Amino acid sequence: MKNELFNLIDKLEKEQSLTLGEYQKLIENYCSELALYSAEKARHSCEKHHGNKIFIRGLIEISSYCKNDCYYCGIRKGNKGCQRYRLTKEDILSCCKEGYALGFRTFVMQGGEDAYYSDEVLCEIIGEIKRLYPDCAVTLSLGERSRESYEALYKAGADRYLLRHETATKEHYEKLHPKALSFEERMRCLRDLKEIGYQVGCGFMVGSPYQTSKHLAADLKFIEEFSPHMCGIGPFITHKDTPFRNEKSGSADLTVFLLSLIRLIKPNILLPATTALGTVDGKGRERGVLSGANVVMPNLSPLSVRKKYMLYDNKIATGQESAQCVADLKESMKEIGYEVVTERGDFKNK
Ligand code: 5AD
Repeated sequence: MKNELFNLIDKLEKEQSLTLGEYQKLIENYCSELALYSAEKARHSCEKHHGNKIFIRGLIEISSYCKNDCYYCGIRKGNKGCQRYRLTKEDILSCCKEGYALGFRTFVMQGGEDAYYSDEVLCEIIGEIKRLYPDCAVTLSLGERSRESYEALYKAGADRYLLRHETATKEHYEKLHPKALSFEERMRCLRDLKEIGYQVGCGFMVGSPYQTSKHLAADLKFIEEFSPHMCGIGPFITHKDTPFRNEKSGSADLTVFLLSLIRLIKPNILLPATTALGTVDGKGRERGVLSGANVVMPNLSPLSVRKKYMLYDNKIATGQESAQCVADLKESMKEIGYEVVTERGDFKNK
C-alpha cells in the first residue's frame, strides 16, 4: 500500500491527473512521510515556474453585510451578533494608498453579498483605483452576481475574481447552504467569470461538516478540469454563532497535503497559504508555502473594522497594523528561504 501511494504521487507529478479513486486513496491513507514527499515535489514544481518568489495581495474587507445564510460563515445574515459595517470609496482608497506604499500591487476587495455595492458604486471605485494605481491588479471577491454585472466590473478594470466553489459535490453543497443558494448557480458564476476573461480563483474548505474523502477527490478533479488560475483552500473553522457551532474544525495537516496535490495538478497555479491555515496552526502559512503555496494575502482593512469581519473564530491579525503584518511576513518567509516580492503576480500560461 505504502509504495502504491508514493507511486501515485510520482504519477501525479508526471501526468498532472489521477482518477477520482486514486485521489480518494491518497486522501484516506496519507501519512506524514507521504506528505513530506509530496511537499518536496510540489515545491520543486512551484519553483520551476515561480522561483522562490511569494506574491502578496492586499486584502480589503469592504463589507460585513451579507444577504446569505451559509451555515458555516460568521457574517451570515442570521448572525445577530455580527457587527455590520461597510467601507466607503474613500476608506477603500486610503487602504490602497497604505498598501501601495507597503509594496502591494494587487488589491483584493472582498465582502459579503451586500446590495449597497451596485455595479455603479463598484465601477466607480474600481475605475478610481486603476486611475491612481495603473500598475496594480484589482481582484474582486464579492460573491455571486449576474453575468452582466461581472461584465460591467471587468470593463471597469477588474482583473481577477475569487469565488470559492466551496465543494464540487451538489449534495454536499446543499448541506452547507440554505435552499436559496444553488450549486448550479455557483457553477454558472464560475463559468461566466472565466468566459468574460477574468483570472479566476475557485476553492474549498478542508474539513467542512459532512465532507468525505470522496468529496475532496471530486474537488481535486474539479480543479483539474475547470483549470482555475488561482485556488484558495483553508481549513473550515468553527464559528460560535453559526449553525455549525458544535462542528469540529478542519486539520492543517490535511490542508497542506491537499495544497501539495493541487500544486502537482497545476504547476503554475497561484495558490495562497490562507489566513484560515495560519489560524489553525501558528506556522500554518509557512507550512503552506513549504507544501507548494506561493501567495499570501495580508489584511489591509482598517484596524477599526477588522474584528467585525469574523468569518470564523480566533482569526489572526485582527489587531495588528498592516505594516507590521507585512514586516513579519517578509521575515518569516525569509527564514524558510522565500522572498516576498512587489509584483502584480499575474497567472502565466507556460
Ligand atoms: N471557516 C473557514 N473558512 C470560511 N469561510 C467562510 N466561513 C468560514 C469558516 N467558518 C470561507 C469560505 C468563503 C471564504 C470567503 O471564506 O470558503 O468562500
